Order: sequence, then C-alpha cells, then structure tokens
Amino acid sequence: MELRLSPCKALRGEITVSADKSISHRALIFSSLARGKSRVQNFLQAQDTCATLRCLGRLGVDIKSEKPGLIISGTGWEGLKEADDVLDCGNSGTTMRLLAGLLAGRPFLSILSGDDSLHRRPMQRVMEPLRMMGAAVYARQDGRAPLVIMGKQLRGIEYRLPVASAQLKTALLLAGLQAEGQTVLSEPQPSRDHSERMLSAMGADLILTSDSITLNPGRLLEPQDFVVPGDISSAAYFMVAASLIPGSELLIKGVGVNPTRTGIIEVLRRMGADIVLEHQQVVGGEPVADVLVRSAALHGTSVGGSIIPRMIDEVPILAVAMAAADGESRIDDAGELRVKESDRLAAISTQLNKMGACVEELPQGLLITGKPQHLRGAEVHSLGDHRIAMSLAVAALVARGETLLKGAEAVDISFPRFWQLLESLTRNC
Ligand code: S3P
Repeated sequence: MELRLSPCKALRGEITVSADKSISHRALIFSSLARGKSRVQNFLQAQDTCATLRCLGRLGVDIKSEKPGLIISGTGWEGLKEADDVLDCGNSGTTMRLLAGLLAGRPFLSILSGDDSLHRRPMQRVMEPLRMMGAAVYARQDGRAPLVIMGKQLRGIEYRLPVASAQLKTALLLAGLQAEGQTVLSEPQPSRDHSERMLSAMGADLILTSDSITLNPGRLLEPQDFVVPGDISSAAYFMVAASLIPGSELLIKGVGVNPTRTGIIEVLRRMGADIVLEHQQVVGGEPVADVLVRSAALHGTSVGGSIIPRMIDEVPILAVAMAAADGESRIDDAGELRVKESDRLAAISTQLNKMGACVEELPQGLLITGKPQHLRGAEVHSLGDHRIAMSLAVAALVARGETLLKGAEAVDISFPRFWQLLESLTRNC
C-alpha cells in the first residue's frame, strides 16, 4: 500500500493508542498454562499478537472472544497438545522465541516457522541456553528459523544472557517453569520486566534482585484478569510528532509507563521536550499514565548504554526527532537494531536521508546532524517494517512538501489503527 502524506499543523486533542504488544503476547501465553479461566481486556488485535493466538489455538488452547475481552480457558501444561501442522509465527519474533521456550519442555514435536523477515533473525541466542537445559531444538545451519523442537524433560541452569533481551529472558523462564531444579538468570542490562511481574502475580516462585532472577519451578500458575495498557512504543510516534509540530498539545491516555520501557520519555525530555505524566496509577501490576505532550524546541543529545534496552523499539522514531532537532546527536550501543524486523539502523538512515536528513550509520548506532524545518517530502519505503513505516509517517508530517510512503500496510503488525488515528488528528491541516 502506498500513501501520500502531507505536512501538518498543530496536533491537538486526546487520543488512545493500541494496546501493549509485549503484554498482550504474554497474557495469552501465560494464561494458557494456568488452570482455569483468565480474562484479557484490551488485548492488542494486530498481526503479531494474532499469530500467537493462532499458534496457541493449534496447540489446543481454548481462546474465545467475549466482551470486554478474551477468555482463555487454560488446562495447565498438560493441556497443550501437539499441533497438526507447522506453527506460523508470521513476522513475530516474540511469538517464535517465547513459544520455543515453552515447547522445549512439552513431550511432542513442534515446528515454528514465519515470514522472510523472521527467517533472517537470530535464533541461536534462544537455542543455545535451551540446549544447555536439555532441549532438542534444531534450526537451519546458520541458526535461523524454521525451528524444529522435540520436547524433553528440562533441567534448570544458571545463565547470563549475552544480550539484554526480554524475549530471550522470557523464553528461558517458560522453559525454567517446566524444568527440574532452579533457573537463575542475569542480564547485561535490564530489559522489559513484564514477564517477571505477570508470572509473579500468577503465583510463580520468582526471586528478583537488582541483578538476577531466580525461578523455582513446581507451582501451578493461577488464572488472572489482565488489563492491557496502551503501548508506549506506539505512543512514541505521537510524542515525537506533537513535540516537533509547533502549537501541538496532545493527551495520550492510558499509556503503560513501566520504568523498563520509558527510556524514550527520558531522552526526549533531555532534548527539551515538554512531556508530563498525569493520573499515574498501577493497573494489573503495571504503571499506567496519561501522557501530555506540548510542542517544544528540541536540541540534539547523545544516548547509549543501559538506556538502549529501555527504548529498544523507539530508536527509529528517536532518529526522526534527532534529525529535526537542532544540532548533533549520537546513538551508541544499538547494534541489536540490526537484527529486528529489518536492519533498523540501515533502514531509518537511508530513508531519512532521502528526505534531506543527515544521518550517518555507525556499526552500532547513528550519528545525526539535526536541523529544524529541514526535512523535505520524498519517496520512501517502510521495507516491510512497522516501526520504520510509522517513524517515516512522523517525518512526513514535519517535512516540506509531499511524501510518498510505500509499504504503509506494515503498521498492521502492531498498530492497525495507526493511519486512521493519524488521519483523524490531521484532518484539518
Ligand atoms: C519484546 C522484546 C524486544 C522488543 C520486541 C518485543 C518482548 O525484543 O524489541 O519488540 O515482547 O519481549 P528483544 O527481546 O529481542 O530485545
């Protein structure tokens, strides 16, 4: 799908963004392992999370859509049955990696497949520790999907993750829950902790310290009522757009502001953004707030180190903010972006440079010379990556002239309402 996008005047009003993708995947998977009915309100209906839903259905889990949400009738670990076909994870790394951990301990054969992008992503990072736990997991020779798993009795391990990855951490927790003996995990830097919060609330025996997670298996997971907050990763596009477009004042309601996800707010504030959190509360174990954003003059900054995992999916939209801010910016320690749905460092720099930006790719980051009112409309491509599509949409709003965005349908991966919402906000431009 191609879209023509024009520059926009002030963004004003109140919006809600799509539900949190990470929490939606986890709510489905963890509920499937509990015994009894769990409810998930405000589940994200998008391609990635629906891939998880379909895979669990193939594994015999009973999931029904009833107002006001989904009802998952879990029958415990033994309730999972061998699927009669390949499990199609679509574009979703979270689906593939989390299910790999889960299925490694189930006594049947599973084959996990996906689209071309998912088949390019590294699976070795999950396979290696799962094998140390006794799993029989196979991939293509270069450690890429499809994955073939023959479930085995697993044993707990002590393991330091080579990368700060919540997908990997959660896969190992799912394996550890079924293992004999304790699993102890540590990460180079903290990644999102939704799994720890949700599993603890469901009764799992998790001991969390500042630098480790200890899981003692054996407890049954109890069903839960989950309420999924708005996704801060989806809100980020509107935070940057409202910051950059003069005269904007936008209230984004009900956004998840878990501290392991709020790196983008901290960096934007450091760049001069006017972002205020209102009505902060805790809903279902997750901090939630309304995010009020007023336009402000942004200036360049440098980011790197432990804040990167706390804003890992927001680096492309941060690059747009930096390209339109005043002065030099630098992003370091972001090599993980090269193995996301696309090589996001390459994708965002090539596409933004077509719009007149000055973005230089570094092996593990970006060097950006920003200039306000400098971007110009151009023909750009999402490269099939939802986060690149939405980042370029924001760049188009602040550019001079019209932008032609190809591959605009990629937003359906995480935020199917994105174009509709943008249209309603920019109708009077
Ligand atoms: C996710 C973790 C992150 C993130 C992805 C969702 C999750 O991936 O990029 O969009 O739900 O656990 P990594 O764990 O690979 O960093």
